[in-house]
Amino acid sequence: MHRAGFRRREFVYETDAELAADIHEEARWLNYPPHPVAEPTERDEWLRYFREKGHRERFLARLKEAASSGDDGLFVWEQEAGGTPAAFLWLRVLRPDSEELPQGLVAEIGVAPAWRGRHLALNMVGFAYDWFRERGTKRAKVIVGAKNSSALRLFHRLALEIGRYEMEKLL
Ligand SMILES: CC(C)(COP(=O)(O)OP(=O)(O)OC[C@H]1O[C@@H](n2cnc3c(N)ncnc32)[C@H](O)[C@@H]1OP(=O)(O)O)[C@@H](O)C(=O)NCCC(=O)NCCS
Repeated sequence: MHRAGFRRREFVYETDAELAADIHEEARWLNYPPHPVAEPTERDEWLRYFREKGHRERFLARLKEAASSGDDGLFVWEQEAGGTPAAFLWLRVLRPDSEELPQGLVAEIGVAPAWRGRHLALNMVGFAYDWFRERGTKRAKVIVGAKNSSALRLFHRLALEIGRYEMEKLL
């Protein structure tokens, strides 16, 4: 599947880390909504709180480490060579137990707001499947919050099935 106008390239920490961190923050906000009493529920305020707690910095540190270790798949999509990165993908192969088959985890997937709604993410997931298959992985998974409607629509469209529920109750 090729999406005209976008090309994929390897992630480069120096030029792409800020987009990756923005996508991580948005996915955190959408996938793990704040506690209505204990945390700020207004988005900008929550973002300040998130950053003050050092989450963005820690994400960037993990990303830098992953980029230098080369074990994970880190990619961006862009419209033209050297242009602003449009989308970010972080893939990991999990080996929970040596007896078990490795599992592919889509650890981060996101499209910058200006490029959304063009089904670029469909193309990115198709690429992720190939990347996982090449590494002997027979199962791909992603963790999505129940209210993250764009991501849910994307993964339902791709016929992913719900493997387990993580249930919660506010206290
Ligand atoms: C989830 C995400 C990756 C989808 O990327 P995408 O390439 O825009 O995906 P699609 O083009 O298939 O659009 C998904 C839906 O968004 C909606 N959409 C359309 N235009 C849009 C726009 N300009 N902005 C936002 N959403 C739009 C559409 O309703 C579309 O559904 P449809 O195909 O039924 O019309 C993207 O929304 C994103 O980066 N979200 C923030 C990070 C995140 O939550 N990642 C997932 C973590 S599990």
